[in-house]
Amino acid sequence: MCGIVGYVGPRPSQDILLAGLARLEYRGYDSAGIAVIDESGELGMRKKAGKLKELRDSLATAALGDGTTGIGHTRWATHGGPTDVNAHPHLADDDRLAVIHNGIIENFAALRDELAAEGVTFRSETDTEVAAALLGREYRRTGDLQQAFRDVVNRLEGAFTLLAMHKDHPGLVVGARRNSPLVIGLGEGENFLGSDVAAFVEHTRKALAIGQDQIVAITPSEVTVTDFDGNPVEAAPFDVSWDAAAAEKGGWSSFMAKEVAEQPEAVGNTIRGRIKDGQVVIPELDGMDELFTGIRRVIITACGTASYAALVGKYAIEQWARVPVDVELAHEFRYRDPVIGDDTLVVSISQSGETMDTLMAVKYARERGARTLSICNTQGATIPRESDAVVYTHAGPEVAVASTKAFSAQITALLLLGLHMGRVRATLSDASAEVAELAALPEKIATVLSEEHDHVEQLAHWMADTRSVLFLGRHVGFPIALEGALKLKEISYIHAEGFAAGELKHGPIALIEPGQPVFVIVPSPRHSALIHSKVVSNIQEIRARGARVIVVAEEGDAAVLPYADEVIRIPLAGAMFEPVLAVVPLQIFAMALATAKGLDVDQPRNLAKSVTVE
Ligand code: F6R
Repeated sequence: MCGIVGYVGPRPSQDILLAGLARLEYRGYDSAGIAVIDESGELGMRKKAGKLKELRDSLATAALGDGTTGIGHTRWATHGGPTDVNAHPHLADDDRLAVIHNGIIENFAALRDELAAEGVTFRSETDTEVAAALLGREYRRTGDLQQAFRDVVNRLEGAFTLLAMHKDHPGLVVGARRNSPLVIGLGEGENFLGSDVAAFVEHTRKALAIGQDQIVAITPSEVTVTDFDGNPVEAAPFDVSWDAAAAEKGGWSSFMAKEVAEQPEAVGNTIRGRIKDGQVVIPELDGMDELFTGIRRVIITACGTASYAALVGKYAIEQWARVPVDVELAHEFRYRDPVIGDDTLVVSISQSGETMDTLMAVKYARERGARTLSICNTQGATIPRESDAVVYTHAGPEVAVASTKAFSAQITALLLLGLHMGRVRATLSDASAEVAELAALPEKIATVLSEEHDHVEQLAHWMADTRSVLFLGRHVGFPIALEGALKLKEISYIHAEGFAAGELKHGPIALIEPGQPVFVIVPSPRHSALIHSKVVSNIQEIRARGARVIVVAEEGDAAVLPYADEVIRIPLAGAMFEPVLAVVPLQIFAMALATAKGLDVDQPRNLAKSVTVE
C-alpha cells in the first residue's frame, strides 16, 4: 500500500524517482507525485490523480528541473479519495518542506485539531498533511530538521513510513518507519530509500534493512540510522539476490503472464539447496530442532492467497509431522483470545513480508510466548525480522497484484517444512518418495503450462460473457478451489466462489442452474479411491442439475469423462503435490478471461499488492 522512493546524489532525481515509482506501482496506483530540491534550494512538486502515466505525461510537458534530492510516492488511498490534492507529496512550512507517507496515522484527528487551533489550514483530507504541518511547526521551533523529524514521529500513532526533505537542506532526505516498510539502497556517492528494494535495484543491489521505530537520514555520502530517541543503531546489510531485469516484463504481455510462466523456476529455486542425502534439510533451520520438537500444535496464519497455501500446508504438516495444525486468517487471529503459548509454533506466510494483518498476528503470537517462523519471499522485510526463524521462498520479485508464482513457492516451502519437521520429529522414517516428488515438480508444472495453456485460454475466450463461476475441491483440492475463485474475482471482476465439494449439498447446490460453469478439482484415484469417488459423485450431482462441468484431473483418469464438458489434464503427482499443478490452469483461466474482457490483469481495480494497513 503506497510505494515510497527517496534519492540524494549527483544525478537529476526526477527520472530516478519516476523509474523507482514504476517498479513500486504494484503497491498502489490511484495517484502519484514527486518533489525535488535543486542546489539553489528550489523545491518543485508535481502530483496527479490516476496511474503513474498521468504524472509522467505532466512532467513530460513541464519537467521539475534538475534537482538532485527528491522523494516520490505512488498511492493507495486511505484518508481522502484519489484526487490531485490528496496525492502525495504534501507541503508545509510555506511550501518549503515536502512529506510522503505510507500507512495510517491513527491520532491524526487530534493532531489536526491541535494544529487547526493554532491557525493551520489544510488543503487535503489526508492524515499525511497533518504530519507535514506538524513537521513544519517543529522545524520552525527548532531550526533543526532531524530534531524536528524525531519530535514528530514520536507524536504519531499507528503505522507509518514517512520521508521528508526541506529546501533549507538540499542533499538530505530523512525517513522513519513504524510497522510499515522502508529499506536503504547504498550507491556510490548517492543513496536511496524505498518501500522495497525494487525502488533502487536498477542502481544498486547493496541494501540496509531498517528496524521498527527507527529513523534514517541519507546524504550523498552518508547514511545514519537512529532509534526514535536519536541513539545510533546498526542497520543490517544485505545484498539483493535478483537484478533489475527480473522485475521487468521482458516481452511478456503482462507481469502476471510472465510470473505464471516462471513457476517452474520459482518452485525449483525454492527447493534448491534444501535436499541433502535424500532428505529435506532446510539450512536456515539448522540448530533449531527444538522449535519443532517441543510443540503440541501449529497455527499457520496468513491472508488471501497465502492463507490458501496455508491450508495445503495443514494437510501436509499433519500427515508428515503428526502435529495438529490450524489455519487462521491473520486479521481474525488476534481479535479473539486464542489459546497459545510456548508449546505453539505460529507459522506466518507472506509474499511481501509486510502485510500488516499478518505482521500484527506474528507480534501478538510472540507476545503470548509462541514460537514463530515465517515463510516469506522478500528479503529485508518486516515479518521475517519479527520471527524466530524464516524460510524464504525464492520466487523472485512478484509484480502483478494477483499472486501466482509466490503461491506455488509458498506451497513448496510448506511441503519442505512439513518434510523437515517430519524428519526432526521422527514421524516420517522414509521421505524418499516425497523428495522425488519435490524434485519432479518444476518439470510437471512446465508440462501443464505447455500442454494446457492454449486449451484453457480458448475456454476463457468462449466464456468471456460468463457472470458467475463456481469452483469445487476436496482435500487439498479445496484450497485450490478457493484460490481459483479468488484469482477470477480479483482480476476479471466476475462473481466466483470456491467450495469444499462435500459442502455443496448443505446449501451451495441451490446456486446450480442450467449452464452454470463449475470447475471441479479432481484428486487422483491412486491416492484415495474413496475421495476420488466422492468427488465424481459431486460432479454427477451438479451435472444432473444442468451445470457446465470443467474438470481438472490427472492424466488417464477416465472416470470423469462421462460427466465433464471439458477436461484439463495435469501430470500424475503425489497427493500433496497435486495442488501446485492444479492451480496453474486456474491462473491461466482467470488471466485469459480478464484479458478477453479488456482488463488490466496486473493492476486490478481497488487493490494493491502489499497491504500495509489493517
Ligand atoms: C491475491 C493476493 C492477496 C495476497 C494477500 C497476502 O492474489 O495476492 O490475497 O496473497 O494480500 O499478501 P502477502 O502474501 O504479501 O502477505
